[in-house]
Amino acid sequence: MDTTKLSERLAEAGQSHILQFWDQLSPEEQSDMGLDLENMNFIEINTFFQNAMKISGQSSQEKVDSRMEPVPREVLGSVTRDSGCLKEWEKEGLRCISENKVAVLLLAGGQGTRLGVPYPKGMYDVGLPSHKTLFQIQAERIRRLEQLAEKLHAKKCCIPWYIMTSGRTMDMTKEFFLQHKYFGLKKENVLFFQQGMLPAMDFNGKIILEGKGKLAMAPDGNGGLYRALGTQKIVDDMKKRGISYIHVYCVDNILVKVADPAFIGFCSLKGADCGAKVVEKTNPTEAVGVVCKVDGRYQVVEYSEITLATAEKRSSDGRLMFNSGNIANHFFTLEFLSEIVRTYEPQLQHHVAQKKIPFVNTQGQLIKPDKPNGIKMEKFVFDIFQFAKKFVVYEVLREDEFSPLKNADSQDGKDNPTTARHALMSLHHRWILNAGGNFVDENGTHIPAIPSLKDGTDLPIKCEICPLVSYGGEGLEHLVNGRAFQPSLMIDESGVHELVKNGL
Ligand code: UD1
Repeated sequence: MDTTKLSERLAEAGQSHILQFWDQLSPEEQSDMGLDLENMNFIEINTFFQNAMKISGQSSQEKVDSRMEPVPREVLGSVTRDSGCLKEWEKEGLRCISENKVAVLLLAGGQGTRLGVPYPKGMYDVGLPSHKTLFQIQAERIRRLEQLAEKLHAKKCCIPWYIMTSGRTMDMTKEFFLQHKYFGLKKENVLFFQQGMLPAMDFNGKIILEGKGKLAMAPDGNGGLYRALGTQKIVDDMKKRGISYIHVYCVDNILVKVADPAFIGFCSLKGADCGAKVVEKTNPTEAVGVVCKVDGRYQVVEYSEITLATAEKRSSDGRLMFNSGNIANHFFTLEFLSEIVRTYEPQLQHHVAQKKIPFVNTQGQLIKPDKPNGIKMEKFVFDIFQFAKKFVVYEVLREDEFSPLKNADSQDGKDNPTTARHALMSLHHRWILNAGGNFVDENGTHIPAIPSLKDGTDLPIKCEICPLVSYGGEGLEHLVNGRAFQPSLMIDESGVHELVKNGL
């Protein structure tokens, strides 16, 4: 291959060191590296670096903190405080779904570093009785919701599912869906697209090499969505399908109400172009961003960007002042997204995360640093809130809707497979009780609604309800009312199964 042009481009951008091991590479390695480099715009990457460093230097935590204001009550809808409106919101959402106006968009381009598995997080099995993966649970919720809307409005409908992956997760994700026949969804309604990648840079703006012929690359953050929506023609596809509303969410929340009709209905009835679902943040150090206003504009201040003093501030009612915990569930109109892609995307700045990035030194040896030696640059999905003309916030109950899978299992751990599994089973337990069912132990003794702690453990009642049977607790009465079950209980399309009692 002709390296002269490449060398010139690199020299112009001050990145010539990238080719320092070129002569030691095999022809295949040279060709792979050449291909990687050919499509990269080094001048643009340098500009990203300079802007990101400038912004991260400027907006010191103190400065952001002093400009933060809590979300005002008038933009807030709450499933508890406004429970009287829930039915109306849900009805409106189901109407929109029945008219094929709603799409869901999954952000699944992350690397799942904290969970530490070598495959996409959506393929993870948290150990439920059914051993369903996160992808399967979400797919089945979509199918059930389509059925509910169809039944109510007596017409066929579809909720297209857009799945954003990255260079690291695309092939495995697609293969997994193919293998599982798209979990019963139509192939043409599950659309994969890929976000961009950016190189990690050292503090002087030099691209880091993780191998002699390999740059240290990482996805460009979940806000990479907006560039990808344009370059991959996703907005065009949505327009063609007549979509009006999009529910964007993260892969890791086992309780996620995909295309939640109440959330969609609330946002649409309020005439919002942008909305965020939140849970009440009760612990100042919980790793969730907070939705708030900064300089009069809505934004999420990320947990990594807020000071403890501000996170600990309380209102006169004793609650945290900044308590709108972002659970990464967003509502956008297609009109708003189109405007972002067309006009605002280039104005979004990268956030800087200082990281320990393995690199090869000038002798070509791989070094694993023990302190941060460079940065990764990421855009965030919520950075477009500032452009909303009508922004709303929708508050839901944590125990019903938020249990993210972030970390591997460990003793006393948080947000891990065990906590995710328990959260889902505990929700399903409550659904069964609310539908008139009960649980008994192996001796037939009634188990109280709030099971007492046995041996200091607070294991939930083992029960699981297939999303194809119930999306949000509906439709269970005829199966469970007046009956007593022995755990483990599984309810699926073929009926109600007491797994232990039946030796399953
Ligand atoms: C995210 C939110 C945080 C919120 C928390 C709730 C962002 C930037 N932060 O934080 O405010 O309180 O979830 O659980 O949204 N992803 C991509 N591409 C990337 C990076 C990530 O698609 O380049 C996806 C991941 O696959 C995942 C989601 O974005 O589905 C969130 O990523 P993660 O890094 O886990 O975000 P958190 O730091 O937990």
